[in-house]
Amino acid sequence: MQQKLLALETSCDESAVAVMGMEGKKLVVIANRIASQVNEHAKWGGVVPEIASRKHLEALPFLLGEVLSESKLEMTDMDAVAATVAPGLAGALMIGSVTARTLASLYSLPFIGIHHLEGHLSSVLLGKNPPELPYLVLLVSGGHTELIRVSSDRNFIRLGRSHDDAAGEAFDKVARLLGLPYPGGPAIENLASKGDPKRFVLPKGRVSRPEGGYYPYDFSFSGLKTAMLRLVESLRANGHEIPRPDLAASFENIVAEVLVERSLRCAVEEKLKTLVMVGGVAANNRLREMMKQRAFEEGIDLYLAPKAFCTDNAAMIGAAALMRLEVTNRSSSIELGVSPRWPLAEADSFYQSPPPF
Ligand code: KG4
Ligand code: ZN
Repeated sequence: MQQKLLALETSCDESAVAVMGMEGKKLVVIANRIASQVNEHAKWGGVVPEIASRKHLEALPFLLGEVLSESKLEMTDMDAVAATVAPGLAGALMIGSVTARTLASLYSLPFIGIHHLEGHLSSVLLGKNPPELPYLVLLVSGGHTELIRVSSDRNFIRLGRSHDDAAGEAFDKVARLLGLPYPGGPAIENLASKGDPKRFVLPKGRVSRPEGGYYPYDFSFSGLKTAMLRLVESLRANGHEIPRPDLAASFENIVAEVLVERSLRCAVEEKLKTLVMVGGVAANNRLREMMKQRAFEEGIDLYLAPKAFCTDNAAMIGAAALMRLEVTNRSSSIELGVSPRWPLAEADSFYQSPPPF
């Protein structure tokens, strides 16, 4: 194995640690552990930042011990230590960053700060057959819904985005409306499998341009969420039983249709022959199947992140760090802090001196 590194991810509600390696040009997941906090947050209906930080602090020492013993490696075998530094919950990011920087200092290793979205983008490289640059990425998670062009020199250019809720956030809010637990995505998917996806007609959420027309590659999910609320209220007011599986299926179907239509239109119009889908919502089966079918019809090559690496994990952070090490051979200042918001297009600044934050 040419390069090996330890990677940490603590930006939200999953504490995750991985040992990653590079064999030739191939990324290898040597050990990968996640301690999910969802049960801690489920009773509050969403992520509580203070609880997230405390749980990361409790989980990291155990996860570190586990990945080292599983990989049969010592810290002295590592070539670098990586951690997510932005965006995310500040306190939660800080736990991973301080842990990684402490280990890097103790073992005299380079520290590599990673942008969380660059991690998600890199998750597709963990598949059997990674795509060749350039390509278009649909990134659909709990915090982001974006269309990003990754150019041949690995620059990230955002071509589309949500103007309000992210797709995953819409799943979480609609799940709560339907009395389902957090996180909403898997719960809706499960209920939707028993429902009729064509029963209810729901809005596709377009974003108007001030000069007229619509932004073709942008998204809006807040109107859909309100439409679901109104639908449930009117069914209830008329004394109907709430057809939860049909509501879940119709919602899941319209979200998938919107994501598929706008992504493919963007790929075709931007003359990008390859489309990649990553992020927590990319684990959704209806979305995966619909995207496969329509991409095939459009003659677009589709690469889906492996399901196990769609939701937050440290292997994707390690993959991004190994690419940074391999391609640019640069690391971050040990003084690089964390930032709750930071554009992906400015992730290069994590490797500059002085650091941006
Ligand atoms: O990427 P991720 O783990 O965290 C963020 O960076 O946000 O994404 C979490 C989001 C949540 O909103 C969750 O409801 C959604 O992804 N999600 C799903 C599925 N699994 C997770 N949405 C739809 N279908 C799924 N199977
Ligand atoms: Zn994420």
